[in-house]
Amino acid sequence: MSADLSPIDKAKFAAARRAVDLIEDGMRVGMGTGSTAAWMVRCLGERVREEGLRLQGVPTSTRTADLARQVGIDVVSLDEAKWLDITIDGADEFDPELNLIKGGGGALLQEKIVATASDQMVVITDASKEVHHLGGFPLPVEVIPFGWQTSRALIEELLESMDVLGRQTTLRLNGSQPYVTDEGNYIVDLHLNRIGNARQLALVLNQVPGVVENGLFIDICDMVIIGGSDGKVEIRDINEGSVSNEKIEFADDDNIFADLD
Ligand code: 5RP
Repeated sequence: MSADLSPIDKAKFAAARRAVDLIEDGMRVGMGTGSTAAWMVRCLGERVREEGLRLQGVPTSTRTADLARQVGIDVVSLDEAKWLDITIDGADEFDPELNLIKGGGGALLQEKIVATASDQMVVITDASKEVHHLGGFPLPVEVIPFGWQTSRALIEELLESMDVLGRQTTLRLNGSQPYVTDEGNYIVDLHLNRIGNARQLALVLNQVPGVVENGLFIDICDMVIIGGSDGKVEIRDINEGSVSNEKIEFADDDNIFADLD
């Protein structure tokens, strides 16, 4: 284990390392986006290189696709794979029902399609992402650039009748320009503070003209693996109703740390 890793990176690594134990030879695997998912891709690449594990990986962003190829994973499109055995991804928030806010990294659209096309979605995370009620993290909504200000105004109007604590919206920026997703769209972040009825909000947001998708993942996630900086992991399975605890041993000579800056 690299001594330079921060406690939060150690926690993300522990969750990622445990999650890739779920992958069996021949599986089709959805690969999420973000710093935690990047650990998972590196761990998966290590299994491919060292164990000869065969798998097809479907990335949820160009960033993840680039990293996956770099570490030796066979990358295919979702249309080539058609259906996936499992998707492993990070999240910005998860609640007791394992409903999620995702899209902090801007990849919510591909992430939701890929997760929905999977037998199982596993979220890897550190403990800081756990909440009682979703909404502390700004909710990303992907909108098409055409008429985006109108879509934003319609979203704001819609929020007036929703059970939320805040109603401010912001266009996500990349420097002084709008942030552009892999699909060429913009993201409007909703600063709601607390979402009373996430299921309802997820449904109605997608009725707004110009909205492509929102970052609420309702009834999609099956399992959350929460990593700790000491290597402890907690595994919550919503279908089994089970919670188990394990410990990941960090190896000093781990190859996946060799290419870290
Ligand atoms: C990207 C996402 C990420 O999974 C989410 O933002 C968590 O990222 P990180 O693991 O870097 O905290 O939804 O669109």
